[in-house]
Amino acid sequence: MRKLVFFDTTLRDGEQAPGFSMKTEEKIRLALQLEKLGVDVIEAGFPISSPGDFEAVQKVSEVITESSVCGLSRAARKDIEAAWEALKGARKPRIHTFLATSDIHMKYKLQKSREEVLSMAVDAVKLAVNLCPDVEFSAEDATRSDPEFLYKVIEEVIKAGASTVNLPDTVGYATPEDMYSFISGVMNNVPNIDKAVISTHNHNDLGLGVANALAAIRAGASQIECTINGIGERAGNAALEEIVMAVNVRKDRFPDVECSINTKELYRTSRMLTNITGVEVQPNKAVVGKNAFAHEAGIHQDGVLKERTTYEIMTAESVGFPSNALVLGKHSGRNAFTTRLKELGYSLSPEGLEKAFAEFKDLADKKKEIYDEDLEAIVLGRAAEHKKYYELEYVGFSSGTGSVPTVTMKLRRQDGSVITDASIGDGPVHAAFRTVERICGAEGRLKSYRINAVTPGKDAQGEVTLTAEFDGAGFNVGGKGYSTDVLVASVEAYLDALNGYLAKKENLK
Ligand code: KIV
Ligand code: ZN
Repeated sequence: MRKLVFFDTTLRDGEQAPGFSMKTEEKIRLALQLEKLGVDVIEAGFPISSPGDFEAVQKVSEVITESSVCGLSRAARKDIEAAWEALKGARKPRIHTFLATSDIHMKYKLQKSREEVLSMAVDAVKLAVNLCPDVEFSAEDATRSDPEFLYKVIEEVIKAGASTVNLPDTVGYATPEDMYSFISGVMNNVPNIDKAVISTHNHNDLGLGVANALAAIRAGASQIECTINGIGERAGNAALEEIVMAVNVRKDRFPDVECSINTKELYRTSRMLTNITGVEVQPNKAVVGKNAFAHEAGIHQDGVLKERTTYEIMTAESVGFPSNALVLGKHSGRNAFTTRLKELGYSLSPEGLEKAFAEFKDLADKKKEIYDEDLEAIVLGRAAEHKKYYELEYVGFSSGTGSVPTVTMKLRRQDGSVITDASIGDGPVHAAFRTVERICGAEGRLKSYRINAVTPGKDAQGEVTLTAEFDGAGFNVGGKGYSTDVLVASVEAYLDALNGYLAKKENLK
Protein backbone atom coordinates (compact mmCIF):
# COMPACT_ATOMS: atom_id res chain seq x y z
CA MET A 1 0.00 0.00 0.00
CA ARG A 2 1.14 3.55 -0.76
CA LYS A 3 0.71 5.94 2.17
CA LEU A 4 -0.85 9.26 1.17
CA VAL A 5 0.72 12.18 2.99
CA PHE A 6 -1.91 14.84 3.72
CA PHE A 7 -0.33 18.29 3.71
CA ASP A 8 -2.79 20.87 4.96
CA THR A 9 -2.21 24.48 3.93
CA THR A 10 -5.37 26.03 5.44
CA LEU A 11 -3.21 28.19 7.70
CA ARG A 12 -1.05 29.43 4.81
CA ASP A 13 -2.62 29.29 1.33
CA GLY A 14 -6.10 29.32 2.91
CA GLU A 15 -5.42 32.16 5.29
CA GLN A 16 -3.88 34.20 2.46
CA ALA A 17 -7.33 34.64 0.84
CA PRO A 18 -9.25 37.85 1.63
CA GLY A 19 -11.70 37.41 4.52
CA PHE A 20 -9.92 34.37 5.98
CA SER A 21 -7.24 35.94 8.15
CA MET A 22 -6.79 34.35 11.56
CA LYS A 23 -5.25 35.49 14.82
CA THR A 24 -2.35 33.51 16.27
CA GLU A 25 -4.48 31.88 18.98
CA GLU A 26 -7.02 30.87 16.33
CA LYS A 27 -4.28 29.34 14.21
CA ILE A 28 -3.05 27.38 17.23
CA ARG A 29 -6.55 26.05 17.95
CA LEU A 30 -7.04 25.01 14.34
CA ALA A 31 -3.56 23.45 14.16
CA LEU A 32 -4.35 21.30 17.21
CA GLN A 33 -7.58 20.19 15.54
CA LEU A 34 -5.71 19.40 12.29
CA GLU A 35 -3.36 17.22 14.30
CA LYS A 36 -6.34 15.45 15.85
CA LEU A 37 -7.73 14.97 12.34
CA GLY A 38 -4.53 13.10 11.47
CA VAL A 39 -3.01 15.56 9.01
CA ASP A 40 0.63 14.60 8.32
CA VAL A 41 2.01 18.08 7.60
CA ILE A 42 0.59 21.42 8.77
CA GLU A 43 1.76 24.43 6.78
CA ALA A 44 1.40 27.09 9.46
CA GLY A 45 2.38 30.22 7.54
CA PHE A 46 4.94 32.18 5.55
CA PRO A 47 7.28 33.47 8.28
CA ILE A 48 9.04 36.26 6.35
CA SER A 49 5.75 37.73 5.12
CA SER A 50 4.74 39.43 8.40
CA PRO A 51 5.53 39.42 12.14
CA GLY A 52 2.09 37.81 12.66
CA ASP A 53 2.91 34.92 10.33
CA PHE A 54 6.29 34.45 11.97
CA GLU A 55 4.73 34.32 15.43
CA ALA A 56 2.01 31.91 14.29
CA VAL A 57 4.53 29.46 12.82
CA GLN A 58 6.64 29.71 15.97
CA LYS A 59 3.69 29.13 18.31
CA VAL A 60 2.22 26.30 16.24
CA SER A 61 5.68 24.69 16.23
CA GLU A 62 5.67 24.74 20.03
CA VAL A 63 2.35 22.92 20.49
CA ILE A 64 2.25 20.34 17.70
CA THR A 65 3.89 17.01 18.50
CA GLU A 66 2.64 14.41 16.00
CA SER A 67 2.32 16.25 12.67
CA SER A 68 5.21 17.94 10.87
CA VAL A 69 5.04 21.74 10.97
CA CYS A 70 6.00 23.56 7.82
CA GLY A 71 6.87 27.17 6.99
CA LEU A 72 6.93 28.64 3.47
CA SER A 73 9.82 30.62 2.02
CA ARG A 74 10.77 31.96 -1.37
CA ALA A 75 14.06 30.64 -2.76
CA ALA A 76 16.00 33.37 -0.99
CA ARG A 77 18.43 33.25 1.93
CA LYS A 78 16.56 35.69 4.20
CA ASP A 79 13.26 33.84 3.67
CA ILE A 80 14.76 30.44 4.36
CA GLU A 81 16.55 31.67 7.47
CA ALA A 82 13.38 33.32 8.77
CA ALA A 83 11.44 30.10 8.13
CA TRP A 84 14.01 28.11 10.09
CA GLU A 85 14.04 30.64 12.94
CA ALA A 86 10.26 30.25 13.27
CA LEU A 87 10.30 26.45 12.90
CA LYS A 88 13.30 25.40 14.93
CA GLY A 89 11.24 24.68 18.07
CA ALA A 90 9.09 22.13 16.21
CA ARG A 91 9.41 18.43 16.88
CA LYS A 92 9.19 17.71 13.16
CA PRO A 93 10.05 20.90 11.23
CA ARG A 94 9.87 21.24 7.46
CA ILE A 95 11.11 24.12 5.32
CA HIS A 96 9.10 24.60 2.15
CA THR A 97 10.91 26.69 -0.44
CA PHE A 98 9.41 27.61 -3.81
CA LEU A 99 10.37 29.14 -7.14
CA ALA A 100 8.45 29.48 -10.39
CA THR A 101 9.55 27.32 -13.32
CA SER A 102 7.12 28.28 -16.10
CA ASP A 103 8.41 30.50 -18.91
CA ILE A 104 5.66 33.02 -18.27
CA HIS A 105 6.59 33.42 -14.57
CA MET A 106 10.34 33.36 -15.20
CA LYS A 107 10.13 35.99 -17.94
CA TYR A 108 7.61 38.45 -16.49
CA LYS A 109 7.68 37.94 -12.74
CA LEU A 110 11.20 36.79 -11.93
CA GLN A 111 12.97 38.22 -15.00
CA LYS A 112 15.42 35.33 -14.80
CA SER A 113 16.71 32.82 -17.34
CA ARG A 114 16.20 29.06 -17.01
CA GLU A 115 19.84 28.65 -15.94
CA GLU A 116 19.46 31.27 -13.21
CA VAL A 117 16.25 29.69 -11.91
CA LEU A 118 17.82 26.22 -11.86
CA SER A 119 20.77 27.42 -9.85
CA MET A 120 18.59 29.49 -7.46
CA ALA A 121 16.42 26.42 -6.81
CA VAL A 122 19.42 24.21 -6.08
CA ASP A 123 21.07 26.84 -3.84
CA ALA A 124 17.83 27.36 -1.91
CA VAL A 125 17.42 23.63 -1.27
CA LYS A 126 21.08 23.27 -0.24
CA LEU A 127 20.76 26.14 2.22
CA ALA A 128 17.50 24.75 3.66
CA VAL A 129 18.94 21.23 3.97
CA ASN A 130 21.82 22.65 6.02
CA LEU A 131 19.32 24.02 8.51
CA CYS A 132 16.48 21.51 8.55
CA PRO A 133 16.33 17.73 8.04
CA ASP A 134 13.08 17.86 6.04
CA VAL A 135 12.94 20.11 2.95
CA GLU A 136 10.24 20.49 0.34
CA PHE A 137 10.72 22.28 -2.97
CA SER A 138 7.77 23.61 -4.99
CA ALA A 139 8.06 24.42 -8.68
CA GLU A 140 5.46 27.17 -8.82
CA ASP A 141 3.23 27.04 -11.93
CA ALA A 142 4.65 23.57 -12.61
CA THR A 143 1.76 22.48 -14.82
CA ARG A 144 2.49 25.31 -17.29
CA SER A 145 6.26 24.73 -17.26
CA ASP A 146 8.25 23.26 -20.13
CA PRO A 147 8.34 19.52 -19.22
CA GLU A 148 12.03 18.95 -20.11
CA PHE A 149 13.13 21.96 -18.05
CA LEU A 150 10.89 20.90 -15.16
CA TYR A 151 12.34 17.34 -15.19
CA LYS A 152 15.82 18.85 -14.91
CA VAL A 153 14.81 21.11 -12.01
CA ILE A 154 13.21 18.19 -10.17
CA GLU A 155 16.26 15.97 -10.71
CA GLU A 156 18.64 18.67 -9.43
CA VAL A 157 16.64 19.69 -6.35
CA ILE A 158 16.37 16.02 -5.36
CA LYS A 159 20.14 15.72 -5.74
CA ALA A 160 20.49 18.84 -3.56
CA GLY A 161 18.49 17.14 -0.80
CA ALA A 162 14.78 17.92 -1.26
CA SER A 163 12.81 14.97 0.11
CA THR A 164 9.48 16.22 -1.24
CA VAL A 165 8.91 17.89 -4.61
CA ASN A 166 5.60 19.66 -5.03
CA LEU A 167 4.20 20.36 -8.49
CA PRO A 168 1.44 22.93 -8.16
CA ASP A 169 -1.27 23.75 -10.64
CA THR A 170 -0.89 27.31 -9.36
CA VAL A 171 -3.50 28.90 -11.62
CA GLY A 172 -5.99 26.01 -11.69
CA TYR A 173 -5.62 25.51 -15.45
CA ALA A 174 -5.22 21.72 -15.72
CA THR A 175 -7.95 19.19 -16.39
CA PRO A 176 -7.84 15.74 -14.75
CA GLU A 177 -6.55 14.21 -18.02
CA ASP A 178 -3.76 16.82 -18.18
CA MET A 179 -2.89 16.15 -14.56
CA TYR A 180 -2.70 12.40 -15.04
CA SER A 181 -0.30 12.69 -17.97
CA PHE A 182 1.68 15.51 -16.30
CA ILE A 183 2.42 13.45 -13.15
CA SER A 184 2.99 10.29 -15.21
CA GLY A 185 5.52 12.25 -17.31
CA VAL A 186 7.40 13.30 -14.16
CA MET A 187 7.37 9.76 -12.73
CA ASN A 188 8.75 8.33 -16.00
CA ASN A 189 11.31 10.97 -16.95
CA VAL A 190 13.12 12.03 -13.78
CA PRO A 191 15.88 9.46 -13.16
CA ASN A 192 16.06 9.88 -9.34
CA ILE A 193 12.28 10.25 -8.80
CA ASP A 194 12.27 7.32 -6.35
CA LYS A 195 14.39 9.41 -3.93
CA ALA A 196 11.59 11.92 -3.21
CA VAL A 197 7.89 12.10 -2.51
CA ILE A 198 5.99 13.71 -5.38
CA SER A 199 3.32 16.14 -4.24
CA THR A 200 0.30 17.74 -5.88
CA HIS A 201 -1.25 21.17 -5.07
CA ASN A 202 -4.36 22.12 -7.02
CA HIS A 203 -6.15 25.44 -7.29
CA ASN A 204 -9.82 25.47 -8.08
CA ASP A 205 -10.19 28.19 -10.71
CA LEU A 206 -12.12 25.86 -13.02
CA GLY A 207 -13.72 23.92 -10.18
CA LEU A 208 -11.39 20.98 -10.90
CA GLY A 209 -9.13 21.08 -7.83
CA VAL A 210 -10.32 17.86 -6.21
CA ALA A 211 -10.63 16.00 -9.54
CA ASN A 212 -7.06 17.01 -10.38
CA ALA A 213 -5.77 15.92 -6.96
CA LEU A 214 -7.40 12.51 -7.47
CA ALA A 215 -5.92 12.20 -10.97
CA ALA A 216 -2.48 13.06 -9.55
CA ILE A 217 -2.84 10.36 -6.87
CA ARG A 218 -3.71 7.78 -9.52
CA ALA A 219 -0.64 8.80 -11.54
CA GLY A 220 1.69 8.37 -8.56
CA ALA A 221 1.64 11.53 -6.41
CA SER A 222 1.84 10.56 -2.75
CA GLN A 223 1.57 13.92 -1.01
CA ILE A 224 -1.64 15.90 -1.38
CA GLU A 225 -1.68 19.61 -0.57
CA CYS A 226 -5.14 20.82 0.26
CA THR A 227 -7.22 22.92 2.66
CA ILE A 228 -10.22 22.53 4.91
CA ASN A 229 -13.42 23.62 3.13
CA GLY A 230 -11.26 24.25 0.04
CA ILE A 231 -10.30 27.78 1.08
CA GLY A 232 -7.32 29.44 -0.59
CA GLU A 233 -6.16 31.98 -3.13
CA ARG A 234 -8.90 33.10 -5.58
CA ALA A 235 -11.31 30.15 -6.07
CA GLY A 236 -9.44 28.20 -3.41
CA ASN A 237 -7.59 24.89 -3.19
CA ALA A 238 -8.71 21.30 -3.42
CA ALA A 239 -10.80 20.50 -0.33
CA LEU A 240 -9.19 18.01 2.04
CA GLU A 241 -12.48 16.51 3.20
CA GLU A 242 -13.58 15.79 -0.38
CA ILE A 243 -10.31 14.12 -1.38
CA VAL A 244 -10.25 11.98 1.77
CA MET A 245 -13.83 10.81 1.34
CA ALA A 246 -13.38 10.15 -2.39
CA VAL A 247 -10.38 7.94 -1.67
CA ASN A 248 -12.24 6.18 1.18
CA VAL A 249 -15.62 5.71 -0.47
CA ARG A 250 -14.16 4.76 -3.87
CA LYS A 251 -11.57 2.24 -2.67
CA ASP A 252 -12.25 0.40 -5.92
CA ARG A 253 -10.61 3.32 -7.78
CA PHE A 254 -7.81 3.77 -5.23
CA PRO A 255 -7.05 0.19 -4.16
CA ASP A 256 -3.36 0.73 -3.44
CA VAL A 257 -3.42 3.82 -1.20
CA GLU A 258 -4.10 4.40 2.47
CA CYS A 259 -4.20 7.49 4.67
CA SER A 260 -4.22 8.28 8.35
CA ILE A 261 -7.02 10.85 8.38
CA ASN A 262 -9.62 10.26 11.08
CA THR A 263 -12.71 10.97 8.97
CA LYS A 264 -14.90 11.36 12.07
CA GLU A 265 -13.09 14.65 12.76
CA LEU A 266 -13.85 16.13 9.31
CA TYR A 267 -17.07 17.92 10.19
CA ARG A 268 -15.71 19.27 13.47
CA THR A 269 -12.63 20.67 11.71
CA SER A 270 -14.74 22.30 9.02
CA ARG A 271 -16.98 23.90 11.69
CA MET A 272 -14.02 25.15 13.64
CA LEU A 273 -12.73 26.92 10.54
CA THR A 274 -16.11 28.52 9.76
CA ASN A 275 -16.42 29.58 13.38
CA ILE A 276 -13.02 31.21 13.33
CA THR A 277 -13.38 32.98 9.98
CA GLY A 278 -17.13 33.61 10.07
CA VAL A 279 -17.35 32.34 6.48
CA GLU A 280 -19.90 29.55 6.15
CA VAL A 281 -19.63 26.84 3.50
CA GLN A 282 -22.52 26.65 1.04
CA PRO A 283 -25.32 24.33 2.24
CA ASN A 284 -24.80 21.94 -0.69
CA LYS A 285 -21.03 21.65 -0.11
CA ALA A 286 -19.89 18.02 -0.44
CA VAL A 287 -19.14 16.16 2.81
CA VAL A 288 -19.55 19.06 5.28
CA GLY A 289 -22.39 21.28 3.93
CA LYS A 290 -25.59 21.51 6.02
CA ASN A 291 -27.52 19.60 3.34
CA ALA A 292 -24.84 17.01 2.56
CA PHE A 293 -26.86 14.30 4.33
CA ALA A 294 -30.34 15.83 4.25
CA HIS A 295 -32.95 14.01 2.18
CA GLU A 296 -35.76 16.36 1.28
CA ALA A 297 -37.62 14.63 -1.55
CA GLY A 298 -40.32 12.21 -0.36
CA ILE A 299 -39.12 9.47 -2.69
CA HIS A 300 -35.59 9.81 -1.35
CA GLN A 301 -36.72 9.81 2.29
CA ASP A 302 -38.82 6.73 1.66
CA GLY A 303 -35.89 5.00 -0.05
CA VAL A 304 -33.44 5.80 2.75
CA LEU A 305 -35.86 4.59 5.39
CA LYS A 306 -36.22 1.28 3.55
CA GLU A 307 -32.52 0.88 2.79
CA ARG A 308 -29.96 3.61 3.51
CA THR A 309 -27.75 2.79 0.52
CA THR A 310 -30.53 3.62 -1.96
CA TYR A 311 -29.55 7.29 -1.74
CA GLU A 312 -26.50 7.44 0.54
CA ILE A 313 -22.95 6.57 -0.47
CA MET A 314 -21.45 7.32 2.96
CA THR A 315 -22.88 7.82 6.42
CA ALA A 316 -23.16 11.14 8.21
CA GLU A 317 -21.47 9.51 11.24
CA SER A 318 -18.43 8.57 9.15
CA VAL A 319 -17.56 12.27 8.78
CA GLY A 320 -18.64 13.18 12.31
CA PHE A 321 -21.79 14.97 11.22
CA PRO A 322 -23.81 15.87 14.35
CA SER A 323 -27.39 14.78 14.83
CA ASN A 324 -28.22 18.46 15.53
CA ALA A 325 -29.72 17.25 18.77
CA LEU A 326 -30.53 19.52 21.62
CA VAL A 327 -27.53 19.18 23.89
CA LEU A 328 -28.10 21.18 27.04
CA GLY A 329 -30.80 23.22 28.71
CA LYS A 330 -31.55 25.53 31.57
CA HIS A 331 -31.18 22.80 34.17
CA SER A 332 -27.92 21.34 32.92
CA GLY A 333 -25.17 21.49 35.51
CA ARG A 334 -21.51 22.44 35.37
CA ASN A 335 -20.43 18.86 34.84
CA ALA A 336 -22.58 18.31 31.74
CA PHE A 337 -21.46 21.68 30.40
CA THR A 338 -17.73 20.97 30.90
CA THR A 339 -18.02 17.45 29.50
CA ARG A 340 -19.73 18.69 26.33
CA LEU A 341 -17.13 21.42 25.82
CA LYS A 342 -14.38 18.81 26.14
CA GLU A 343 -16.16 16.61 23.58
CA LEU A 344 -16.22 19.61 21.26
CA GLY A 345 -12.46 19.96 21.65
CA TYR A 346 -12.27 22.99 23.98
CA SER A 347 -10.23 22.98 27.16
CA LEU A 348 -10.51 26.17 29.18
CA SER A 349 -8.67 27.48 32.21
CA PRO A 350 -10.65 27.34 35.51
CA GLU A 351 -11.42 31.09 35.23
CA GLY A 352 -12.40 30.72 31.55
CA LEU A 353 -14.70 27.85 32.45
CA GLU A 354 -16.30 29.87 35.23
CA LYS A 355 -16.99 32.73 32.85
CA ALA A 356 -18.27 30.43 30.09
CA PHE A 357 -20.60 28.67 32.52
CA ALA A 358 -22.05 31.98 33.70
CA GLU A 359 -22.60 32.98 30.04
CA PHE A 360 -24.26 29.63 29.39
CA LYS A 361 -26.70 30.10 32.30
CA ASP A 362 -27.46 33.59 31.06
CA LEU A 363 -28.14 32.30 27.54
CA ALA A 364 -30.26 29.41 28.82
CA ASP A 365 -32.53 31.99 30.48
CA LYS A 366 -33.07 33.70 27.12
CA LYS A 367 -33.16 30.69 24.82
CA LYS A 368 -34.98 27.41 25.40
CA GLU A 369 -32.81 25.13 23.31
CA ILE A 370 -29.02 25.18 23.54
CA TYR A 371 -27.09 23.51 20.71
CA ASP A 372 -23.41 22.75 20.19
CA GLU A 373 -23.16 25.86 18.03
CA ASP A 374 -24.40 27.96 20.97
CA LEU A 375 -21.71 26.50 23.22
CA GLU A 376 -19.07 27.26 20.60
CA ALA A 377 -20.36 30.82 20.35
CA ILE A 378 -19.94 31.24 24.11
CA VAL A 379 -16.39 29.93 24.09
CA LEU A 380 -15.39 31.98 21.04
CA GLY A 381 -17.25 35.11 22.10
CA ARG A 382 -17.59 36.70 25.53
CA ALA A 383 -15.70 33.91 27.29
CA ALA A 384 -12.77 33.97 24.82
CA GLU A 385 -9.51 33.86 26.71
CA HIS A 386 -7.45 36.43 24.82
CA LYS A 387 -6.31 39.79 26.13
CA LYS A 388 -9.08 42.37 26.36
CA TYR A 389 -8.14 46.03 26.66
CA TYR A 390 -11.81 47.03 26.72
CA GLU A 391 -14.87 44.97 27.68
CA LEU A 392 -18.53 45.82 27.25
CA GLU A 393 -20.18 46.62 30.57
CA TYR A 394 -23.45 48.13 29.33
CA VAL A 395 -25.03 49.30 26.08
CA GLY A 396 -28.41 50.93 25.51
CA PHE A 397 -29.94 51.66 22.09
CA SER A 398 -32.67 54.02 21.06
CA SER A 399 -33.72 53.92 17.40
CA GLY A 400 -36.72 53.55 15.16
CA THR A 401 -38.63 55.39 12.46
CA GLY A 402 -38.60 59.14 12.92
CA SER A 403 -36.00 59.13 15.71
CA VAL A 404 -32.28 59.85 15.83
CA PRO A 405 -30.42 56.60 16.61
CA THR A 406 -28.64 57.10 19.92
CA VAL A 407 -26.39 54.81 21.91
CA THR A 408 -25.14 55.04 25.48
CA MET A 409 -22.34 52.74 26.54
CA LYS A 410 -20.06 51.77 29.40
CA LEU A 411 -16.74 50.06 28.68
CA ARG A 412 -14.49 48.52 31.31
CA ARG A 413 -10.74 49.00 30.92
CA GLN A 414 -8.13 46.46 31.97
CA ASP A 415 -7.43 48.37 35.18
CA GLY A 416 -11.10 48.01 36.17
CA SER A 417 -12.09 51.63 35.52
CA VAL A 418 -15.35 52.16 33.63
CA ILE A 419 -15.88 54.89 31.01
CA THR A 420 -19.31 56.06 29.93
CA ASP A 421 -20.16 57.91 26.72
CA ALA A 422 -22.90 58.33 24.09
CA SER A 423 -23.24 59.05 20.36
CA ILE A 424 -25.75 59.48 17.64
CA GLY A 425 -25.41 57.96 14.15
CA ASP A 426 -27.17 57.12 10.88
CA GLY A 427 -28.33 53.88 12.46
CA PRO A 428 -27.84 52.09 15.80
CA VAL A 429 -24.75 50.17 14.61
CA HIS A 430 -23.14 53.38 13.36
CA ALA A 431 -23.93 55.14 16.65
CA ALA A 432 -22.56 52.21 18.64
CA PHE A 433 -19.29 52.02 16.70
CA ARG A 434 -18.84 55.78 17.09
CA THR A 435 -19.31 55.44 20.84
CA VAL A 436 -16.67 52.70 21.01
CA GLU A 437 -14.28 54.95 19.08
CA ARG A 438 -14.96 57.94 21.33
CA ILE A 439 -14.28 55.93 24.47
CA CYS A 440 -11.18 54.17 23.15
CA GLY A 441 -9.75 57.14 21.27
CA ALA A 442 -9.40 55.14 18.04
CA GLU A 443 -10.67 55.85 14.56
CA GLY A 444 -11.97 52.83 12.68
CA ARG A 445 -12.92 52.13 9.06
CA LEU A 446 -15.29 49.22 8.68
CA LYS A 447 -14.21 47.00 5.76
CA SER A 448 -16.76 44.18 6.01
CA TYR A 449 -19.73 43.31 8.20
CA ARG A 450 -21.88 40.16 8.24
CA ILE A 451 -24.63 38.73 10.46
CA ASN A 452 -25.47 35.02 10.68
CA ALA A 453 -27.84 33.10 12.90
CA VAL A 454 -25.82 30.56 14.90
CA THR A 455 -28.69 28.01 15.01
CA PRO A 456 -32.19 27.71 13.58
CA GLY A 457 -35.05 29.40 15.44
CA LYS A 458 -36.25 32.97 15.95
CA ASP A 459 -34.56 33.09 19.35
CA ALA A 460 -31.16 32.15 17.82
CA GLN A 461 -27.97 33.96 18.76
CA GLY A 462 -26.73 36.36 16.13
CA GLU A 463 -23.10 36.09 15.08
CA VAL A 464 -21.50 39.26 13.74
CA THR A 465 -18.23 38.95 11.82
CA LEU A 466 -16.44 42.07 10.68
CA THR A 467 -13.10 43.45 9.59
CA ALA A 468 -11.87 46.96 10.26
CA GLU A 469 -8.79 49.11 10.02
CA PHE A 470 -7.99 51.35 12.98
CA ASP A 471 -6.02 54.62 13.00
CA GLY A 472 -4.97 54.12 9.35
CA ALA A 473 -2.58 51.38 10.55
CA GLY A 474 -2.34 49.79 7.09
CA PHE A 475 -3.64 46.37 8.18
CA ASN A 476 -7.10 44.99 8.84
CA VAL A 477 -8.18 43.16 11.96
CA GLY A 478 -11.11 40.78 12.30
CA GLY A 479 -13.66 40.63 15.10
CA LYS A 480 -16.55 38.41 16.10
CA GLY A 481 -19.41 38.91 18.52
CA TYR A 482 -22.35 36.78 19.65
CA SER A 483 -25.59 37.65 21.35
CA THR A 484 -29.31 37.02 21.08
CA ASP A 485 -29.41 40.81 20.47
CA VAL A 486 -27.69 41.49 17.13
CA LEU A 487 -26.88 45.08 18.07
CA VAL A 488 -25.03 43.86 21.17
CA ALA A 489 -23.30 41.23 18.96
CA SER A 490 -22.20 44.08 16.67
CA VAL A 491 -20.64 46.00 19.56
CA GLU A 492 -18.90 42.84 20.83
CA ALA A 493 -17.50 42.21 17.34
CA TYR A 494 -16.22 45.77 16.97
CA LEU A 495 -14.60 45.60 20.41
CA ASP A 496 -13.06 42.24 19.55
CA ALA A 497 -11.48 43.79 16.44
CA LEU A 498 -10.28 46.81 18.41
CA ASN A 499 -8.76 44.57 21.12
CA GLY A 500 -7.00 42.60 18.35
CA TYR A 501 -5.65 45.85 16.90
CA LEU A 502 -4.38 47.06 20.29
CA ALA A 503 -2.70 43.70 20.94
CA LYS A 504 -1.02 43.78 17.53
CA LYS A 505 0.15 47.35 18.13
CA GLU A 506 1.64 46.34 21.47
CA ASN A 507 3.42 43.34 19.88
CA LEU A 508 4.89 45.53 17.15
CA LYS A 509 6.42 47.96 19.68
O1 KIV B 1 -0.16 27.65 -5.66
C1 KIV B 1 1.07 27.61 -5.49
O2 KIV B 1 1.87 27.48 -6.42
C2 KIV B 1 1.56 27.73 -4.13
C3 KIV B 1 3.00 27.43 -3.89
C4 KIV B 1 3.64 28.46 -3.01
C5 KIV B 1 3.15 26.06 -3.33
O3 KIV B 1 0.79 27.97 -3.20
ZN1 ZN C 1 -1.32 27.59 -3.81
